[in-house]
Amino acid sequence: LRVTWDLDKAEKSGYEHFMLKEIYEQPKAIQDTMASRISQEQVDLSQEISLSSQVIQQIDKVQFVACGTAYHAGLVGKYVFEDLTRIPVEVDIASEYRYRNPIITERTLVIVISQSGETADTLAALREAKKAGATVLAITNVVGSSVAREADQVLITWAGPEIAVASTKAYTSQLIAIYLLGTYFAQMRGTCTVEDAKQIVSELTRLPQRVEAILEQSAKIKDFAAQIVNHEHLFFLGRGLDYAVALEGSLKLKEISYIHSEAYAAGELKHGTLALIEEGIPVISLATQRAVYEKMVSNIQEVKARGAYLLGLTVEGDQELQKSVDAVLHLPETLDILSPVLAVVPLQLVAYYACVARGFDVDKPRNLAKSVTVE
Ligand code: AGP
Repeated sequence: LRVTWDLDKAEKSGYEHFMLKEIYEQPKAIQDTMASRISQEQVDLSQEISLSSQVIQQIDKVQFVACGTAYHAGLVGKYVFEDLTRIPVEVDIASEYRYRNPIITERTLVIVISQSGETADTLAALREAKKAGATVLAITNVVGSSVAREADQVLITWAGPEIAVASTKAYTSQLIAIYLLGTYFAQMRGTCTVEDAKQIVSELTRLPQRVEAILEQSAKIKDFAAQIVNHEHLFFLGRGLDYAVALEGSLKLKEISYIHSEAYAAGELKHGTLALIEEGIPVISLATQRAVYEKMVSNIQEVKARGAYLLGLTVEGDQELQKSVDAVLHLPETLDILSPVLAVVPLQLVAYYACVARGFDVDKPRNLAKSVTVE
């Protein structure tokens, strides 16, 4: 038994669970996914993406297609691509995409995202898109996977093997791949200046150390998780990119701790869901996006006034938010567009600690598989 235990521990490099190990591997996964794709402070994907500058300039629609956490990465991709390249972007859940008769032309770029590269719904969507004449680009963590083999173009995330069912380092690596791709396309299409590209690249290269800084706050995050362990419902609130991250945080919590949670676009609360906010209900609010910060604070005050127990995520230097919440977490400064890579880390840890406190199987949650190869 002891030998098994040692082997098991060794596989987890001393961490209690694969998920915790993979959360702590994110600085390296981000670093490795960026490596050799930046030159002269700009993004260079020319060794991996063989689309010519002319083809890239002719793309008139991008469709992100994926499942689960990878779909949430696609939601971030919409904001990033539309902001940087000014190409209209749609994001679809793969199992929906296949049956909605999507509008595809030879100028449509379909970007499928899949950690395993074997998800049946995503693979089927890839095949549909190719049949309809789209160019398909895959972002995947497994070299030689079905998705990698069947796509026209492949951008590998170098997160290393992800064992825990709940995806963490693959998600943040997918975001890095999306930032690289979006910046590269923007450089090709001239929709961002060289200076803009250099600023994005410079901030990208600082993300590993910024994730490290958040991981150092894990004790504080664990304390918050302890407050929510006995609740059956929890809400995540955010606007813009923070809403996309809130959806990912909600999935993490649900799939391993089995606490029911929902993520809302904060502006939607007054259109119905505010009715669900009652005394003591935990709410995690993300307020990293400067453009909507004031509105986010007023949404937070709305739920606070109705008795919610609030954890607020904001950017270091902000002294305001803590006046409206019960617990606050400050994230290192970065460009708003890059904040999802940082904001998701505390949410991964909240889910992890809540699951451990509730005594459930972190790495193998009930009913779930790591790769859903059946439809
Ligand atoms: C994420 O934590 C889940 N395990 C699940 O939603 C996963 O993201 C989804 O099944 C997609 O898997 P893929 O990235 O391997 O295609």
